Amino acid sequence: MLRRHLVQALSLSALTLGLPLAHADDSTFKIGLILPMTGQAASTGKQIEAAAKLYIAQHGDTVAGKKVELIVKDDTGLPDVTKRIAQELVVNDKVDVLAGFGLTPLALAAAPIATQSKTPMVVMAAATSSITEASPFIVRSGFTLPQVSVAMGDWAPKNGIKSVVTLVSDYGPGNDAEKYFSERFELNGGKVIDKLRVPLRNPDFAPFLQKVRDEKPDALFVFVPSGNGAAVMKQFLERGMDKAGIKMIATGDVTDDDQLNDMGDGAIGVVTSHHYSAAHPSAVNKKFVADFEAANKGMRPNFMAVGGYDGMRVIYEAAKNAKGQGGGPALLAGMKGQIFESPRGQVLIDAQTREVVQDVYLRKVEKKDGQLYNVEFDVIKSVKDPAKVKQQ
Ligand code: DHB
Repeated sequence: MLRRHLVQALSLSALTLGLPLAHADDSTFKIGLILPMTGQAASTGKQIEAAAKLYIAQHGDTVAGKKVELIVKDDTGLPDVTKRIAQELVVNDKVDVLAGFGLTPLALAAAPIATQSKTPMVVMAAATSSITEASPFIVRSGFTLPQVSVAMGDWAPKNGIKSVVTLVSDYGPGNDAEKYFSERFELNGGKVIDKLRVPLRNPDFAPFLQKVRDEKPDALFVFVPSGNGAAVMKQFLERGMDKAGIKMIATGDVTDDDQLNDMGDGAIGVVTSHHYSAAHPSAVNKKFVADFEAANKGMRPNFMAVGGYDGMRVIYEAAKNAKGQGGGPALLAGMKGQIFESPRGQVLIDAQTREVVQDVYLRKVEKKDGQLYNVEFDVIKSVKDPAKVKQQ
């Protein structure tokens, strides 16, 4: 306890004084991976850790002549813990880069540490648009909710859905999904009858779904974070919403590949918009899924895994670009502008916004060889985060 307090005090003063946090040992390249390994978002931590380890297994544990050391820390999904761990990793372990961040409040808690210590921070999971504005050292390898929600606002009204109720988790990404879906849907002539927000922690969807049943929209648009989709789907089906003529449409966070098979055949036909499906039919993705499943007892990778895997790619290539010189700013510069083929398709790290530019797919849940998949049937190419396009 005493030691922890001392470390924290020292860490704080080093950071606030802006002291250079020289890297301890020039022969290692340290990646501090902060993830929720326990708590409500534990599946996100598990997916990203597995993906990061797969990347290292495939690409080797040396980069730019240095030995890679991956330090995985569990923040239990609590922002204060994320912040303390980020501080300890920067000051004590002298990591070259911070990475992970399973939920928006966790990423926002660590952002000031990245700024003060000039340490690049790769956000692999958290997806509220504003996160990259919280520090000039943040680079995103996952996605943003506006990026994937707009596509559904275009698809739904062209496919017989004229009225919608939205149901989102009541925090950053839910608010983004609600706003960007609704604006686009209404621009296309649709009507949003009601906007419902459920608490992030221990949500009970039943009273909200009852309200939706009474309001009788053509469809219910849903966003809940990864790991919560199966609960919404179960209650949606148990209440016979589909039989009452209400379709479910959603971002792909809901028909999450991590849980999809557990949702049962009731999920078949649900249309979602998202940037990654384990069923994406490219050679790169087929190899990624096969290698991931082989290394993890058959666990199917989801969009969080891809955010983690590509985040590692961004880090490795940045280390090569920086040639081990120049510390955090040089590593950050080496991340900007990367273009590569991800398991999700072609991606770009936009040098201006530090956001990932990527294809967004429309997908429908289908059964293939006895398993449920999000099968892509349409694509919108090279989508930037719309929240930033407006500002530019
Ligand atoms: C966030 C978390 C998720 O699990 C997800 O699917 C989307 C966004 C977040 O907290 O930003």
